[in-house]
Amino acid sequence: MQVFQRAFGAEHSNALLDVWNFLARAQPHGFVAARQDGRLVGYAIFVESLSRIQTRAIRSGEVLKWLLHALTGRYKFKISAKLRTLRNKAKFLFSGQKFRTKGDAQLLNIAVEPSSQGEGIAKKLIIAGLSAMRAAGVPEIRLEVRPWNRSAIQVYEATGWREVGRTRDLEGEWIVMVANP
Ligand SMILES: CC(C)(COP(=O)(O)OP(=O)(O)OC[C@H]1O[C@@H](n2cnc3c(N)ncnc32)[C@H](O)[C@@H]1OP(=O)(O)O)[C@@H](O)C(=O)NCCC(=O)NCCS
Repeated sequence: MQVFQRAFGAEHSNALLDVWNFLARAQPHGFVAARQDGRLVGYAIFVESLSRIQTRAIRSGEVLKWLLHALTGRYKFKISAKLRTLRNKAKFLFSGQKFRTKGDAQLLNIAVEPSSQGEGIAKKLIIAGLSAMRAAGVPEIRLEVRPWNRSAIQVYEATGWREVGRTRDLEGEWIVMVANP
């Protein structure tokens, strides 16, 4: 969470932490970590099948728990901001449907500690993650990246991802990229 906060300039998020903890339990081999002198300096989160993970989150009661946390104020979000995020996600999901991949594997998130960037860590994380996906029999994997995130796009292109189209949400455009593990 600290690497996420520093790399994205984002605030700590209990909601994200709950979702990641669930993902780490549900699919541990999708989590790839980079360490330097025992310190975590980067991570990547791969999901083999988004729909399977969603079904598991619903069936295990995890979604209900998140809802309860939201209602009891653990996530500290303003309702107006959340409604905007939901509207944003709906728009994004709808416009992203046209770029279908074989299966629904996804690279959900990747970040490297700012002081360790430019050392090839992201490249190694992606290569390791793609190899875990290959071992799990995933034929194709997708990600979305903002067009202005040049450093991320550079890393993706260097590790075999190709652009297949563009989609939008309320904040602007996303590039959709796919790779074959
Ligand atoms: C994107 C990010 C993960 C890259 O991590 P990184 O460890 O610095 O990347 P690497 O060192 O593995 O770089 C791999 C390649 O991209 C190039 N690259 C990295 N950062 C670059 C930059 N700012 N500008 C141009 N090229 C860059 C490297 O030169 C390298 O190319 P090479 O192998 O030909 O030399 C990191 O910048 C980050 O955490 N950003 C904030 C979070 C984020 O945006 N995540 C992606 C969300 S989609």
